[in-house]
Amino acid sequence: MLHGVRGMNDILPPESLLWNEFEALVHSWANAYGYRPIRTPIVEPTPLFCRAIGEVTDIVEKEMYAFEDALNGEHLALRPEGTAGCVRAVIEHNLLHAGPQRLYYWGPMFRHERPQKGRYRQFHQVGVECFGLPDPEVDAELILMGARLWEDLGLTDLRLEINSLGDPHERAKHRALLIDYFTRYEADLDEESRRRLSRNPLRILDSKNPALQPLIEEAPRLLDHLGEATRAHFDAVLALLTDAGIPYRVNPRLVRGLDYYNRTVFEWVTPKLGAQGTVCAGGRYDGLIAQLGGRPAPAAGFALGVERVLALWQTCGGEPPAVELDVYLLHLGAESSRAAFRLAEALRASGFSVVVHAGGGSLKSQMKRADGSGAQYALILAEEELATQTVTIKPLRRKGEQRRVAWSEAEAVLAQMQFGSERSDGTDPVA
Ligand code: HAM
Repeated sequence: MLHGVRGMNDILPPESLLWNEFEALVHSWANAYGYRPIRTPIVEPTPLFCRAIGEVTDIVEKEMYAFEDALNGEHLALRPEGTAGCVRAVIEHNLLHAGPQRLYYWGPMFRHERPQKGRYRQFHQVGVECFGLPDPEVDAELILMGARLWEDLGLTDLRLEINSLGDPHERAKHRALLIDYFTRYEADLDEESRRRLSRNPLRILDSKNPALQPLIEEAPRLLDHLGEATRAHFDAVLALLTDAGIPYRVNPRLVRGLDYYNRTVFEWVTPKLGAQGTVCAGGRYDGLIAQLGGRPAPAAGFALGVERVLALWQTCGGEPPAVELDVYLLHLGAESSRAAFRLAEALRASGFSVVVHAGGGSLKSQMKRADGSGAQYALILAEEELATQTVTIKPLRRKGEQRRVAWSEAEAVLAQMQFGSERSDGTDPVA
């Protein structure tokens, strides 16, 4: 028996229908804010992620599916997130030449984490990235976008946490303070934090080790060392959130697990999903484009975890929509089966969803299948109908009389029965 890869899930009906519904909603939501879709490859050169996300991060150190292409020796990796590839594409195709860009994507990401509820090795993100605009309005709008989506989905119990990570020189100063501070307590650090002490002390603040929390709690806060411009930017973002009626909690310990951020960072968290409560996260990354070789330009964005948002949606009453099948078409004998095949195609061309019965059997057994299919109507095309070039329409889930109509009329009659409307000329199509 072959099994799928641990932590990589099949998404089966009816849950897959909830995914479709969510995806459709995401497209209209992104469009409402002027964001356009971008699709980048699932595989990128490994150095892209190392440089963008940072060498001393959990993702790059422990979680990346990186491999050497056996055919040509290239170093490649399955994308652990979408921002790096998006920035690579923006630089490579010089998209900023045409002015600021608002882009979004949807797709699978890969991280070799320990699988548990809400944490998978293949998971999906919807990501939104805005390139070329430094204004606090952009940061606030990205947060508003999240809030709008939660509202559209009817999600409750989502809290916004926000922080500012300052600009590079402020971070450098803070870094020195952190090294100073943690060096004083080096004996109390765990092995991982000790290793990070000189290379990336900010990451120590991200440690999940409970024993370190009191020490982390007392560590110097970047928020206390922001310069005037950064502080003003952050205050402007907060003021816009207040204006928009979006509650937030400033969390000076929020540092994010990827190195590219500066200034605003934020996370939407819920207590409803247990340990994996962060459903959406992002922030500003003004230095990344230049760092990856592009002309310097500001940027900001976020990504939501689709599995987590859908899990939350389900706890808030989100349900897969019922399968919408209009017609189940029954037939008897080779001749009528050929006619049924043609009729089904004609109906599909007019927009009806049609399943043609397969597998033979009596009309009675076929009707059982029709009933189980969830179709609104059974259409029967047996010997008598074949001889008179007609088809019998039997409502299964709607009120109405069974009736027999000519093949050429089937579509119009079905439409009339389904939408209950009089035809515009007021005549009965089967009279
Ligand atoms: P991230 O915080 O690493 O940020 O991931 C964003 C979201 O993806 C998380 O909040 C979570 O909902 C979901 N997620 C992450 N890992 C897993 C996993 N193993 N299983 C299930 N869901 C997961 C980023 O990826 C940044 N690229 C976000 C961003 C975009 N920042 C700026 N632009």
